[in-house]
Amino acid sequence: MTNNQDLLRFIEGIPKAELHIHLDSAPASLLLRIAKRNDVILPFNSLEEFNTWFVLTDLDDFMRKFKTLTSVLLTERDYFDVVCEFGRICHAQNILRCEAMFTFAAAHEGRVELDVLLSGLAEGRRAVKENFNVDIYFLADIDRTINPDRSLKYIRDIIPRKDEVGILGVGFDCEETGYPIGPHKKAFELARDHGLKLSAHAGEEFSAGPEAVWEVIDNIQPDRIDHGNQAIRDDKLLRHLASSQLPLTLCPMSNVAIQVYSKVEDHPIIALQERGLLVTINSDDNTMLGSRNDLVFNYKCVAEAFDLGFEDIIGLTRNGFAASYASTEDLRRYNMSLDAWLLVNTG
Ligand code: ADE
Ligand code: ZN
Repeated sequence: MTNNQDLLRFIEGIPKAELHIHLDSAPASLLLRIAKRNDVILPFNSLEEFNTWFVLTDLDDFMRKFKTLTSVLLTERDYFDVVCEFGRICHAQNILRCEAMFTFAAAHEGRVELDVLLSGLAEGRRAVKENFNVDIYFLADIDRTINPDRSLKYIRDIIPRKDEVGILGVGFDCEETGYPIGPHKKAFELARDHGLKLSAHAGEEFSAGPEAVWEVIDNIQPDRIDHGNQAIRDDKLLRHLASSQLPLTLCPMSNVAIQVYSKVEDHPIIALQERGLLVTINSDDNTMLGSRNDLVFNYKCVAEAFDLGFEDIIGLTRNGFAASYASTEDLRRYNMSLDAWLLVNTG
C-alpha cells in the first residue's frame, strides 16, 4: 500500500528530463543578486515584493514583465551564473537532461552581444557537467514578434557556434496571437539544413486555438510542439498528433499562472494522453507562481490533481527522455539510469 507522501518522494527522486524551460526567466532570487551587482534597478527589492509584482493576467502581461526581469543580465558571467543555477536545480531534482531555451531578441538584444551570451552559456554548460553531471543543451528561440530578416540573421549568427555552445534546436516564442510562423519559414529551413531540430510554441492560449498548432505543422514540420494544449479542441488534430507521435512539451502550471486554466484540474494533459498523444511535463518559467515553478512542482501538481500512481509517473518520465533530442547513445544511458533507479526504488 502506498500513500501520497511516498508518491511525492518518488517524483522527487526519479530520473527526469526537462524539455521546455526558459533560461531567461531564471529564479527571482538569482536575478535580484545579479541586479545588485550590475546596478540595475528593478520594480522590486525582495522576493516578497517580487511575488506581489509578478501576478500575471495573460501571456502578454507575462512577456512585458519577463523583459523587465531579463534586463539585469548584462555580462558573460551573468549568463554563466544562470546556467549554473539551472544545473544546481536539475541536480537537486534528479533531472539528467535539460534542454533550455533562450530568446535573444525579446530578452537580451540591445544590452549584450549575442557572442557574449553564447560564451556564458558554453562555459556554464561545461561547469554544470563537471560539477553536477547534468547534461544541459540549448534551444535558440526566435521572438515571433520580430521581422523575418532579423530572425534569418539570428539563425545565421547562431550556426557557426552551435556545436561548441551545445545548441540543438531552434524554437519560436513570445506573444502568440497575431504573429504567424509563415514569414519565418526561411530561418527555420536554414536551421534544419544545418542539422538543428525545430519546435515552436503553439496553441498555448485559448485565443490561439488548435489552428496555431496546424499552422506550425504545415509551415515547418516540427520535431516537437511547445505547449499545444489547445489541440484538445480539434479531433482531426488529435488524430494527427496521435498517429505521428509528435511530442507536446506541456507546461501545466505555467498555463495556470497566465490564467489559461483557472486550476490544474482543468488542464487537458491527461485527456491528451488518453487520446494517444506523446505528452511530457515541463516547467516553462521558473519565475512564475512565486518562483517555485520547477519540474518537480509541475509533476506533483499534476499527480495530485489527477490522482496519478507510480506507473503513470514512470510513463511520463519515460516520455520526457523519448521526446528529447538526445543521441541514441545518450538515450540509452538515460534509460539505463532510469531502469537502475527503478530497480532500487520499486518493490
Ligand atoms: N517565453 C517565455 N515563456 C513563454 C511562454 N509561456 N509563452 C511564450 N513565450 C514565452
Ligand atoms: Zn515556453
